[in-house]
This record gives sequence, structure tokens and C-alpha cells, in this order.
Amino acid sequence: MATSLLLVILSLLPCILGLGQIPTISFTQGAIQLAGGSSIATLFLGTDDYPGVQRAGADLQADFGRVTGKNISVKTIALTAADTSPSSGPVIIVGTIGKCKLIDTLISSGKIDVSKIQGKWESFQSQIVADPMTGLASALVIAGSDKRGTIYGIYDVSEQIGVSPWYWFADVAAVQQSQIYALDTVKTQGPPSVKYRGIFLNDEQPALTNWVNQKYGGYNSGFYVQVFELLLRLRANYLWPTMWDSMFSLDDTKNPQLADSYGIVMGTSHTEPLMRSTKEQSKYMSGSWDWKGNKNNIVKFLTDGAKRNKPYENLWTMGMRGSGDTASPTLTADLLADVIKSQQAILSSTISSNLSSIPQMWCLYKEVGGYYESGLKVPDDITLLWSDDNNGNMQRLPIPSEVNRQAGAGVYYHFDYVGDPRNYKWINTISLEKTWEQMHLTYERGAREIWVVNVGDLKPLEIPISHFLDMGYDMSLYGSPESTQTWISQWATREFGAKVSAATASVVDRYGMYANRRKYELLDSSIYSIVNYDEGDTVLKQWEDLVADAQAIYDSLSTAAQPSFFEMVLHPSKAGYILHQLYVATAKNALYAGQGRVTAATQGDIAVKAFAADAALATTYHQLLGGKWNHMMDQTHIGYTYWQQPDRNNMPKLTYPASNTQKPPGVAVDGGSSTKALPQMDRYGPKSRWVDIYSASNSSSSFTVTTDPWVIATPSTGTLKTPGSAADQRVLISIDWEKAPNGTSTSQIKVVAGSTTATVSLPLLNTQIPSDFSGFVESDKTISIEPEHYTSATSSSSVSYGIIPGYGRTLSGVTLFPAMAATQSPPSSPRSTYNIHVFTATTASITVHLAPSLNTDSTRPLAYSISIDDATPTKAQYVPVTKLGTLPNTWTESTKNAGAQYTTKHAVTAGSHVLNLWAIEPGVVFQKIVVDLGGVRTSYLGPPESMRV
Ligand SMILES: *[C@@H]1O[C@H](CO)[C@@H](O)[C@H](O)[C@H]1NC(C)=O
Ligand SMILES: *[C@@H]1O[C@H](CO)[C@@H](O)[C@H](O)[C@H]1NC(C)=O
Ligand SMILES: *[C@@H]1O[C@H](CO)[C@@H](O)[C@H](O)[C@H]1NC(C)=O
Ligand SMILES: *[C@@H]1O[C@H](CO)[C@@H](O)[C@H](O)[C@H]1NC(C)=O
Repeated sequence: MATSLLLVILSLLPCILGLGQIPTISFTQGAIQLAGGSSIATLFLGTDDYPGVQRAGADLQADFGRVTGKNISVKTIALTAADTSPSSGPVIIVGTIGKCKLIDTLISSGKIDVSKIQGKWESFQSQIVADPMTGLASALVIAGSDKRGTIYGIYDVSEQIGVSPWYWFADVAAVQQSQIYALDTVKTQGPPSVKYRGIFLNDEQPALTNWVNQKYGGYNSGFYVQVFELLLRLRANYLWPTMWDSMFSLDDTKNPQLADSYGIVMGTSHTEPLMRSTKEQSKYMSGSWDWKGNKNNIVKFLTDGAKRNKPYENLWTMGMRGSGDTASPTLTADLLADVIKSQQAILSSTISSNLSSIPQMWCLYKEVGGYYESGLKVPDDITLLWSDDNNGNMQRLPIPSEVNRQAGAGVYYHFDYVGDPRNYKWINTISLEKTWEQMHLTYERGAREIWVVNVGDLKPLEIPISHFLDMGYDMSLYGSPESTQTWISQWATREFGAKVSAATASVVDRYGMYANRRKYELLDSSIYSIVNYDEGDTVLKQWEDLVADAQAIYDSLSTAAQPSFFEMVLHPSKAGYILHQLYVATAKNALYAGQGRVTAATQGDIAVKAFAADAALATTYHQLLGGKWNHMMDQTHIGYTYWQQPDRNNMPKLTYPASNTQKPPGVAVDGGSSTKALPQMDRYGPKSRWVDIYSASNSSSSFTVTTDPWVIATPSTGTLKTPGSAADQRVLISIDWEKAPNGTSTSQIKVVAGSTTATVSLPLLNTQIPSDFSGFVESDKTISIEPEHYTSATSSSSVSYGIIPGYGRTLSGVTLFPAMAATQSPPSSPRSTYNIHVFTATTASITVHLAPSLNTDSTRPLAYSISIDDATPTKAQYVPVTKLGTLPNTWTESTKNAGAQYTTKHAVTAGSHVLNLWAIEPGVVFQKIVVDLGGVRTSYLGPPESMRV
């Protein structure tokens, strides 16, 4: 009771630097003053404690220096609680149970009770202890259950005093403090929710490799110790090293030894068994990587790997694929069973005859998953590592028959990828809400043994990496769909301070939605419509606002805090904006050039400037902090034509029409109609439509727009000033509905510009809905709905609908909770309902936009049901069931579009109706509903949400 009350109170405090965890440090008051008092704190470490603990202790020593300007001192001692303290000032005692005499004697003398953490994985306890030693009134005591438990206990203090895990890798500045106190709080933390939590450095060329080569001269221990420290500060424990052209254990023979002494569990990628990297095959193995034809040599090669890495803590990758991460042409399910048997025999003879004591993992990636589904047996002491589709959608999660496996399950996830449908390896494109949705599901379904994520070059994926590892460390903080936004604001507070936290969180959250709409590498000038729904300009404006907000925060920060903010927030915002500017301008250039508009050149110039701005922004990144991150933005990202990257960024093709023509002015309309018919207007749609009048020559002309009295053109007269950017004029058309004819009518708008006379037709519908209606109203033969705006959502005793704020391409997602709910049975199961008012009686096509998630249990495919009023619900199973290892045929489109879409048909009459929507499985996430009554136009995001009265 007291603890949960404390948690509630603490979660309301705005400034908790230990992200989401209970504070034990204060800058204003507390039981022991660690810094800023008459003497500076001393850290006691046990002589026999792990080297990794000693080393992290030295980090804490320097972390105090980073914050206060004065390092604390460290004493490595072999004393017990009965001895006289070598220091009488403020003391921090840190040690591992069973490895630190002082800690052990504090336990045996009853001064600390560690029963909550003893014997547990990676746990620690922190508390103030009175009279811990003779001559010492009190001390802050941090006891770890094991090596990493103690290390996490040390870094817990570092983080709280204001040293971010990203202080080096993302230059987060420590806020200077004059006083630091330890609070009189007993805190126990751990074991982590997921046992092995780590990253995979991959797709590491050009950016990371060029940077590493310049800075360290290769993937040696100088580089890796920075990564180890980062991981430990992030409370991670597991690493798959780079492997495109490197050999972790051989490029620098200190690498594996240092990983172990730091406390990092090493692995190799899913395709590199028994700690041997792919590159080692060609150098140290006779014959080819072909089990069928070369088993003996492969066994010898793998045995040597096991022997070599035996001294260190490893999580062994098992199994086999073909050469270089491809499917093997010769491997069969039977041969794979033999591979596993041989590999376990190697481990058993080299490491330990007790295989259960050796952590092993088999990634059921691509075709290997197919063998498993067909009955391939995986020994119970090997963790099944399920993978996503390389694009953040889990392909499979434990099914009921698998949840009790001894070695359990884990997941291999991606924030970066090289391959179909397209690489994404430039900058961050991750929606944290999507990560939450998939990893929450993963956790609930019981895959809790290993979480490893492909992070490309590491930078610039700092934010998704932190989020992923924080969830893996303590999922109890991230059980609710709102937890992502809580996490973002806590993260923003930790990195940039409470003053800018809300504004920063808003930028980071919006950025994640915008960037996730479509990978940058898949963007081009055809994606966002520049004639319908003002989509291109609307999206561009969102990015523009984002940059303005980010820039304002940046400008308000201290010089010390700016580089970090640039790297993690301002740079991606600007980079995304520039790319959208480039493609919207390129699209307008093509459209205008086709029309002969002279301002095609203006748009071309915008595009050219954006292309240059992209390069300049990369240079700014590279020059930051004296070139600290040179090469990190070397990745090409403009001009993809297929999945693989272009050699260089290629400027999209532009067209510059001749301006020295005699052509008369032209007229183009909203919606892009070649017959100059505007989209219908009514009382419930956009307040205005547009008509563009443009110059197609080098001479100026005047124009007039003549309309019916109820149609208002703004401006109705003017001059196209040519040459110059005022060579075209957007005329806004609005309606005085009190004067407009009742019912349907068509108004003609006459445009005279120079020698051009054009008639634009405007269909009008002047109708009013019943005064008692509340809900969504048709406009332009369309009703578009954000699912969270339901009229009602029913629930049962076991399930209900919940909103995932920020998940989706436009607002949010609506899904069923809990994640372990049973299959639902419409129409009696919970539904969300939407009141709609229809003017057009027709057979409506209703397209539901959903998260791009896949069927993680083929016996329970993702599906929803939908109906109008009391009609029998139509079931929509929108993701076809496929054999594991084979992606559904809907996958390419839903991956590219960052969302699935499925359409059903429903007869509707004019009048008010109720649209009913049922999720049949948890994991179905509704993101938009578009009712097409004959008027939906081409766009990427779908029509903007309809008026809701
Ligand atoms: C603190 O210790 C670190 C590591 O030993 C050292 O590099 C740094 O200069 C020291 N800082 C101060 C303020 O003494
Ligand atoms: C084998 O290792 C597991 C895990 O460490 C342990 O629980 C088990 O007792 C060991 N079995 C034997 C026979 O030593
Ligand atoms: C406009 O174009 C015409 C036809 O090519 C040319 O004769 C004239 O000199 C141009 N005028 C200007 C101001 O460029
Ligand atoms: C439209 O209908 C309303 C209500 O039926 C009526 O009061 C109004 O005069 C009509 N307007 C026109 C322009 O016919």
C-alpha cells in the first residue's frame, strides 16, 4: 500500500532524472550530503568485486565531476562491517553480494536485508544504513545481486545526479549542481522484465564504419568500450557486434575480453552461430559454408569458436542459414536438426555438459521459421528468437503450446534495415507508439527472454533505442497505451530539463508520427497529393511547424545543451522537413510545367534549394563539436529506385518550361480536374476551395472572377505579375449558404485572365442535417473518421477498447485490451460505434486503415467486423494467413504505407446511421475509417477527418 502510494506521488513529480524509477537522490535535501558539503563523498568498493563493478565505480567518480566539477574519491578495500572506516565523511558503499566483504558483513550483521534481491538476476538495493562501520555514522549502501545488478545500481546514481546514459554518444550536457544528497529511501530494483536486452550494430556502412575508421582506426576496443558503457548505462546487457566486414573477436583480440569484464553478454547476429563472424568463414574455414557438403570443416570451425570465446559470458547463436545471411540452397529441416545436434555437442564438450546452463538462442528468421512450422524440433534449452518483418511488425509470437518452454522465447526487432521493400538506414523513422504496441504484445505473449534490436549505425537512433531498452528493463512502467507519451516526457526531462520538457516531448512525439508515415527512402514526389485535400501543403506545414517549435527550444537552451538537442531533435526535424519540401516542390514543378505555368521555375528553385539544404544540414552535423560525429550522416537517401541505396543522392528531375512564350494565362482547380470542375461544396466540408490563375508567358495580365451572388471569390480581381513569383494567383472560393439555392445546384465561375476565358463549375449541396443529430456528416460524398472519436465503445467483463495516442498516420489507434483477450464474436462482443449522417444513398465502400501488424498466431488471424445499423456484420480478415517465413501478399503495400487498408461494401440510404466496428482479435489497431459515397479522391493519408457535430 505504502509503496504504491509512494509510486503515485513520485510519478507526479516533474523532475525525476532516473527515467521512470524511484528517486534516491535530491539536489536540495536528504539524509547524507554527497557533494557540496564540508567534504566530498568517498566510494568504497570491495577488493574482490568484479572488474566491471570497479570500472563502473570509476565512472561514478567521474560522473560526480561532470555534475559538480569535483570527482568523488574511490577506496578499494577489503574491510568488513566490524572494521574502522577509512573515511568519516560522506560514504557510498557499493558491492556485489558474495563478492564484497563489506556488503556480506553488513548482511550477516543484520544491517541490511537483501532477501528481496539475493539470488535474483541483475537486481540491486539502495538504502541509507546507520553505523555501517566503526567511526562511520551512516552511508549510502548499494548492494547488487550479481555483477550487472551492482553496475546498474551505480549507474542509477549517475543518471539521477544528471549524467545521461547518452552523455557521450549524444552529448547530453549534465546540469551543474552545487549540492547532491542521498535520500533516506530503501529502493529495490530488478530483476529486469526481459532477461537479455540488447542491440545489433548492423548495416554499418557507410556512416558508422567511416566514423569508426576515422576516429578509432577500425572496430577495435577503443570503439567498443564506448558502446559497452552506453549499454550498461542504458541497463542493457547484450550486444551483437558489427559484421558486414568485421570480426569482433579478431579485429581486436581485446574486444571479447573487455566485453566480459565490462559486463556485456556477447552474441553474434542471428546468422552467425557459435560466436564466429561471417567474415571468419572465408579466412579460417576450409571449404564452403555448406553443411551438406562440408560438415566436418564447419564443425571444426565452430568448435574453435566455442573454445576461443569460452572464457567469456556469451549468449550463443545456434542454427544456420546460407552464406552471408541468405537462405541456404542445400539445407533441409533434417539437416538443420543435425546442425543443432552438432552445435549442442560442441557446446557440451567445450563449455559444460549441462546444456541448460548455457544460454542459447535460435533465430527463426525467414526460411528457418518455415522449417519450424513444418515440425522441426527445437531443443527446450534453446530460446526461440522470433523476428519481426524487418519493419517493426512481429511475424510470430509464442502461442499457448510454447509459453512453457524451458528457455522461453525472445524477439529480434528492427529500427533499421537493408532490403525489401526498401532500405531504411538514414535517420530515425520510428514511431515509439508502434514500438510500444508491438513490444507490449510481445511481452504479454510471453517473449521475455531476449529482446534484441537492429539499430543500424547506433546514431541517430538514440531515442528509439532508449525507449526499447527501458521497456525491456521494466515493463511494469509501460503497461498502458499512454505510457509512451509519459516515457517521452520523462526522457525529455532527463536530457534537456523540465523547462523544455513538454515542448520537446511534443516535437519528439509528432516527429515519430510524421517520419513513420513513410520511410524517407520511399518518399518521392508522387506520394502526397498536391491537388487533393491540400495534402502536400498540409503535411509540409506540419513539418514546418515542427521545425519552428524545435528551433525555438534549441534557441532557448544553453550552449552546452544545444549540440545534444540538435543531434536528437532539431536535426531529424529539419532533415525530414527538407525532404518533404524537396518532394512537394518537385511535384508542383512537374504539375506546373505540364500546365505551362511560369512558376514551375519557382518550385524548381525551391526543390534545388532543398536538395542543397539537405547536404548542408549533413555538413552541420559533421562539423558539430569539432567534427566529433563526422561521417555519421554519410548515408545516401535521395533517389532510390529499388530496395538498394543509390550511390549518391540524386536530385529529382525538374522541368523548366520556356517563359518567353506568348501563351495566354491558364486556370487550374482544386482537385486537379481537367474539365475544371471543383469538388462539391456543402455546409459540412472545407470552408473554401481554390482556383489557380497563372501566367504561362513572360508578360503580366489582369484577371477578373465573376460568380453567382452566393459564391465569393477572394480576390476576384488582380494582376498576374510576370516575371516573378506573383505570376500566379490562388483564388479562394467560399459560399454564403444562406443565399445559396436549396438542395443541389451547380454554380458557374467565370474567369477572365488576359485573353483567356474559362468556366469553372462548382457543384453545391445546400442541405442541413437534423438538429438532433450528433456524429460525422458527409461532405463531398465522403465521411472520414478518426477511430478514437467514437460515439460509443462498449466493453465486456473481459475486454474493452483503448486508445493508443499518437499511433497511426494521422491521430491515434484504437485497439482491444488486454492483449491476451480471447477471440471476440461480433455482434455480441464489444464494438465501437460511429453516428454518421449520409446525403448520398449508394453502395458505400468503407475502407478501414489499420496498423500494419501481422498475424502472430496463424490460428487467430487479425480481423474486424463492420456493419451499418443492424445489418449482419461483414467480417474482414485483412491479413492473409501464410506459412511462417512467407509474408502475406498484402505485406509490401502495408509496409510501404506504414498501415494496412481493407475495403468492404455496404448499402446506405440518405439519413442518419450507425457504423459499427468490432475488433475480433487483440492486435487489431484501427487508425482511420473512410466511407466513400462516391467522392473520395486520391491521397496518401486519406481524406481529412469529416466535420463532427
Ligand atoms: C575525474 O576523473 C576522470 C577520470 O579519471 C578524469 O578524467 C577527470 O579529469 C576528473 N575530473 C575532475 C574534475 O577531477
Ligand atoms: C544445469 O543448469 C541449470 C541452469 O543453470 C541448473 O538449474 C541445473 O541445476 C543444472 N543441472 C545440473 C544437473 O547441474
Ligand atoms: C517575351 O517573349 C517574347 C516572345 O518570345 C519576346 O519577344 C519578348 O522579348 C519577351 N519579353 C521579355 C520582357 O522578356
Ligand atoms: C431553402 O429552404 C428553407 C427551409 O425550407 C427556406 O426557408 C428558404 O427560403 C429556402 N431558400 C431558398 C433560396 O429557396
